[in-house]
Amino acid sequence: MTRRRRFVRRLLRWYARNHRTLPWRRTRDPYRILVSEVMLQQTQVSRVIPKYREFLRRYPSLEALAGAPVREVRETWYPLGYNIRPVRLRKIAQTVVRHHGGRLPDTREALLRLPGVGPYTAGAVLTFAHGKPSPILDTNVRRVLRRVFYGNRATPDRVLWSLAEALLPPGDGYNFNQALMDFGATVCTARTPHCPSCPVRALCLAYPTLARRAPR
Ligand code: ADE
Repeated sequence: MTRRRRFVRRLLRWYARNHRTLPWRRTRDPYRILVSEVMLQQTQVSRVIPKYREFLRRYPSLEALAGAPVREVRETWYPLGYNIRPVRLRKIAQTVVRHHGGRLPDTREALLRLPGVGPYTAGAVLTFAHGKPSPILDTNVRRVLRRVFYGNRATPDRVLWSLAEALLPPGDGYNFNQALMDFGATVCTARTPHCPSCPVRALCLAYPTLARRAPR
């Protein structure tokens, strides 16, 4: 079996046992998934969870968010950081209500045209909300793929995107992508990766060098 196939199998097996129970994994509502992904762009999971719940209580639908005053939306968001994300999210809601009949688009091209939606967020909405096999690549996933497949060498995004796409297991893209996120956040962490408990260390081209700085 190839390194790629073994990686996918082991990661899925690891995820089945170790996945985190997160509120946005209990829904397929594209609006909720979008809110979670925009919140998670710059904020840690533990800080996002309470805010995600509060935000959705206040704005339970795209329509509710589209109709809310921008100042109020910013205030609701504020503890996550004073920045442009809530303004863009509201703008997305308005665009979708006006031009897409209130339904979040399900093609990459249409998603990328929405304000503040880049390749990562488009991929996340496609795979997590619409169930379309679609690669994702964020800081965590980049690090995981770079270590396992390229021995931690600098690797162009173009190469990593096509690897992320090639790895997607047919019919299981949702779990695989969520697994990549959890694995990068909890095992293959940036500074001190947990190599001793890593399910893919036998395949990892960076393991020989990383293990030296891993915690015991
Ligand atoms: N960070 C970004 N998206 C995430 C997700 N779906 N689950 C956990 N962490 C994330």
